[in-house]
Amino acid sequence: MYRLVCVHCGENYAPDEIIYNCRRCGHLLAVQYDLDNIAVSRKEWDKRPLSVWRYREILPVTIDPVTLFEGGTPLYHLKTIGKELGLSQLYAKHEGMNPSGSFKDRGMTVGVSMALQLKKTHVACASTGNTSASLAVYAAKAGIPAVVLLPAGKVALGKVAQALMHGANVISIRGNFDKALEMVHDLCLSHGLYLLNSVNPYRLEGQKTIGFEAIDQLGGVPDRIVLPVGNAGNISAVHKGLNELIELGFIDRLPMMTGIQAAGSAPVVDAIQNNLPEVVPEKNPETVATAIRIGAPVNAEKALTAIRKTGGTAISVTDAEILRMQRDLARKEGVGVEPASAASVAGVRRLVEEGIIDRNERIVCVVTGHLLKDPETVIKQCEPPTEIDADLASLCSALHL
Ligand SMILES: Cc1ncc(COP(=O)(O)O)c(C=O)c1O
Ligand SMILES: [Zn+2]
Repeated sequence: MYRLVCVHCGENYAPDEIIYNCRRCGHLLAVQYDLDNIAVSRKEWDKRPLSVWRYREILPVTIDPVTLFEGGTPLYHLKTIGKELGLSQLYAKHEGMNPSGSFKDRGMTVGVSMALQLKKTHVACASTGNTSASLAVYAAKAGIPAVVLLPAGKVALGKVAQALMHGANVISIRGNFDKALEMVHDLCLSHGLYLLNSVNPYRLEGQKTIGFEAIDQLGGVPDRIVLPVGNAGNISAVHKGLNELIELGFIDRLPMMTGIQAAGSAPVVDAIQNNLPEVVPEKNPETVATAIRIGAPVNAEKALTAIRKTGGTAISVTDAEILRMQRDLARKEGVGVEPASAASVAGVRRLVEEGIIDRNERIVCVVTGHLLKDPETVIKQCEPPTEIDADLASLCSALHL
């Protein structure tokens, strides 16, 4: 009931072909469903628990999925920060509440299931951290080996810990993420491993469910969805999914897709702000938000379309703005996220200040990963605990009582 279609030239490929780029033009592929002939009902979805698999009719997996109960993440009303910004309808979808602590699990439950469906025995990815943690987790669940390539010294501690503990073969390369992706892509083509970066069209199918859940939780379409952008897979995936809901007649409009990048790593923002037809890669991306330290986003073409077609925008925020919002989310809302995730809400603050966001908008920020992913950045920002002698007088004195 589906096929692979080139996002650029429209060439078709069979769904069981292991292919990541169009043979005719080299661009990426997307899954296209025959939505007229798929029995899918919103009522049926409503009966199922909120999760990636609630939407299984428009996912490519036909076997029993490899699942750890991903999705179904909370949508928090950010009342305090919203009030400060004059936004009464500001929400955060906390993707850090997935099994491995990031939205990547939505992609990996589908991607690793597809690996088994396609009879692949080994999986691999390059990663700024979260993809590797998630792949390690789902490969462990599936009982197949995983190889992950990381940019040496640039991956948050929690993510490396996960990849190692869940048993992936972890390789650190002396180069950045963009180089790691190029290498793992070559490895997969030459040695037959199944590539689970966001060039894999099936993985992104899982990620599109973020948008579905947000609409189900809100009871309607938000005016704007704001996402941190690295490789630009997630913003593209959410947009694709929402287009499918339009085609199914389940919704009648799209939210303004809004991408936020870190100032030192913002090629998508440059393309949007300067109205360029395509992204010019940033050779030396740098930011404290290592998850989005990506200079040559492979899904940029789709992301530019998503932003432009929905009247959205893309802006960058500084590392200082990101860290300030990470603290604000933690202390004013009880929402603990990693720096890249705070970028989405920091972007909203900036867009409000610049008058680009209308204060009546209903806004969903996707906060993509958990606070504990990057404990080192957290510790650097906080005062260390006060150490005292173990007696009440010392305690009272430390508390100024
Ligand atoms: C926490 C976090 N946020 C955002 C992103 C960016 O997602 P994408 O690469 O799909 O744009 C990533 C990607 O690694 C991530 O780990
Ligand atoms: Zn093509």
